[in-house]
This record gives sequence, C-alpha cells and structure tokens, in this order.
Amino acid sequence: MNRVMKGLCLGFGGLALAAGYFVMRPPKSAPPKEIRVPMTPESVARGKYLYEVVADCDGCHGERNWGKQLAPVVRSAAGFTFPPAMGLPGRVTAPNISSDPVAGIGAWSDGEKLRAIREGIGRDGRALFPMMPYGAYRHLSDRDAEALVSYLNTLPAVPDQRPRTEIDFPVSVLIKSAPAPVEGPVAEPAELGEYLVKLGGCADCHTQKQNGAPIAGKELAGGEIFRTDKFTVVSANITPDVETGIGRMTEAAFIKRFHEYREYEQTPLPDATQKNFTLMPWLQYSRYSAEELGAIYRYLRKQKAIVNKVTVHPES
Ligand code: HEC
Ligand code: HEC
Repeated sequence: MNRVMKGLCLGFGGLALAAGYFVMRPPKSAPPKEIRVPMTPESVARGKYLYEVVADCDGCHGERNWGKQLAPVVRSAAGFTFPPAMGLPGRVTAPNISSDPVAGIGAWSDGEKLRAIREGIGRDGRALFPMMPYGAYRHLSDRDAEALVSYLNTLPAVPDQRPRTEIDFPVSVLIKSAPAPVEGPVAEPAELGEYLVKLGGCADCHTQKQNGAPIAGKELAGGEIFRTDKFTVVSANITPDVETGIGRMTEAAFIKRFHEYREYEQTPLPDATQKNFTLMPWLQYSRYSAEELGAIYRYLRKQKAIVNKVTVHPES
C-alpha cells in the first residue's frame, strides 16, 4: 500500500470513527437531582394548575375523546400514540405518566421526573423526542417544576401500556443535541405574559414549520397545518398585524374570547366536524384569570406584526 493510499485509509477510518461517535454519543445530561419535592397542599394545587391549564400536559399525555369538539380529556396521563396522519418522523408516544409503577412513571424518583420535564432525559438516559417541550420547560422556576412533580406524584395509576417512541434515522441521532442540563437555580419569572406564552407552547403551534423547524420570520404568524385521521385545522395568526392577526382585538375582547368557553364547557360538547375541529386548548385556557390573559395579550401585542392570512378551518 503506498503512502497516499495509507493516508486515505486512515482518513476514512477516522471519518467512520467520528461518524460512529456521533451516532453513539449520549446526549448532554447531568445525573438526576437527589431531591424530594414538597408534598404540601399548596405545591400540589399549583402543580395541578400548571399541569391542566398552563402547560396542558394532557393535551398530549391524556386520553381524549376525539369524536367531540375540543377533544375533552377522558383519562388524565394515560398516554397517547400520535397517528401517522400527523407526519412525525417515526412512531411517537406521549407516554403514560400516571403513577402506575410499570406502565407509568410511579417508580421514578422525583429527580428523574424533574430531569425529564426540564432537561429532556428519559429514566434510561436517552434523549426524549423534543416534541415533549422540554426546551420551554427549562424556564420553569424551581418552585413550579417541583410543584409539577408534586402533582404528578398524586395522579392515580393508569395501567395502560403504550408502544415506545421509535424515531427514524437520522432524526434519532439529531435529537441527541436537544437536551441540556439546567444550570443553577431558576428564579420566579419577571414577566408573567412571556412565561405563560413560553410554557403554553403558543409559538410551537402558532409558527409554521418546515422539516420540523420553525420558519424564521413567521414567529406566531400561524399557518401551521395539523392533520388528524379525519380533520384538518390551521393555527391562527396571533401577531399584532391589523388585517391578518389580532391587531384589531382589544384586551377585553381577547379575554372574552377565552372566557366564553367557561360556560361552553358546562353544555354537552357538539360532535367534532371539519368546521369546528380545533387543537387550540380553549377549555383549558378558559380557566385563566383575566389578569393572566391580559398579561398574555400585552406580551403578544409587543411582538412583531407579521402579515399572513390564514384560513383556520379549510374546506377539507
Ligand atoms: C406537545 C406534546 C407534549 C406536551 C404538551 C407534554 N409532553 Fe411530555 N412527552 C411528550 C412526548 C412525545 C414524550 C415522549 C418522548 C420520547 O419518548 O422520546 C414525552 C415524555 C414525557 C416524560 C417522560 C416519560 C417517559 O416514560 O419517558 C415525562 C415525565 C413527561 N413527558 C411529562 C410531561 C409533563 C409533566 C408535561 C406538562 C408540563 C408534558 N409532559 C407535556 C409530549 C408532550
Ligand atoms: C396545540 C396547538 C395550539 C396551542 C398550544 C395554542 N394554540 Fe392557539 N390556536 C390553535 C389553532 C389550531 C387555532 C385556530 C383554530 C381556533 O381558533 O380554534 C388557534 C387559535 C387561537 C386564537 C384565536 C385567534 C383568532 O383570531 O380568532 C388565539 C387568540 C390563540 N390561538 C392564542 C393562543 C395562545 C395565547 C396560546 C398559548 C398560551 C395558544 N394559542 C396555544 C392551536 C394552538
């Protein structure tokens, strides 16, 4: 073998090693914290509010009645496998996160639960598929993150086993760069509106994506298409643009739009149709106080106005 060939072989060997390292490399992670969260009534109540309203965890993790408008939650934390119609890169399950020790996360330590929520690491050390919004949840204050775990600890056990998430290559490798340990204490938020918008994942649903990544310049401008087996809905433009966004909506009208669903929930929900189908968590958010909704409104009104005309309920 001449020197050039030898050099080439070594070069390729090196490349293969590098590629192998990239595939095998574990995600950035820290050991779970040794912590017992406070199981006080205040902490559990705060966790329940974060779980049901602010972060709408059951929007993904709950078993829902998809035959009804607004797909109300039937069984909390029971887990859900997303249908192929959603076009995700593989089989994605939002797992059973009830306190069942086998089917759910009842056997996990508090530290392991905290790490999964804020840092995107599974109990076995793997990177969670970032549809689980740990990128947003890393902003949870320490008090709120612990409150969430307090509440999770009180959830009744649901025995349903769900198929594990299996992400296709190469996305399975790319997602390893998503998790990151949370350094240092996380204080209470300075700005309520921004905090609620982050934890609610408003931008996740309200920003159009390409190959799974939000398109720059389209932040909060809507146009993201959601397909289930039966229906299609498109997210609305919630930037301050006057013609195509919420620019004409007053703060009072904005609050009313959400609070209307408080009474709506008391009546039997109509069947889901293409005309009324939505994924917007109206029932959950209707529980927000006027003060919280006002803070969300004022935060949205400070964002860049983007012109983007959207038809939220397309004909088919
Ligand atoms: C937009 C959908 C979505 C929302 C909202 C969501 N999750 Fe998840 N979650 C997922 C998915 C999908 C996974 C699984 C990822 C995987 O398996 O790689 C997951 C995984 C988890 C896990 C790890 C479970 C396991 O068995 O590995 C925990 C714990 C968890 N979520 C808790 C929560 C909590 C608490 C909330 C609300 C604060 C929440 N999630 C909100 C989609 C979501
Ligand atoms: C799971 C996806 C999802 C999430 C999360 C979500 N939205 Fe929506 N939202 C939608 C969809 C889809 C529509 C359009 C259909 C409808 O009006 O119900 C919508 C509609 C709206 C509208 C009505 C706009 C109009 O002009 O009528 C407002 C306001 C809104 N969302 C605000 C928010 C805010 C604020 C958040 C975060 C706190 C949020 N959304 C989180 C999917 C979502």
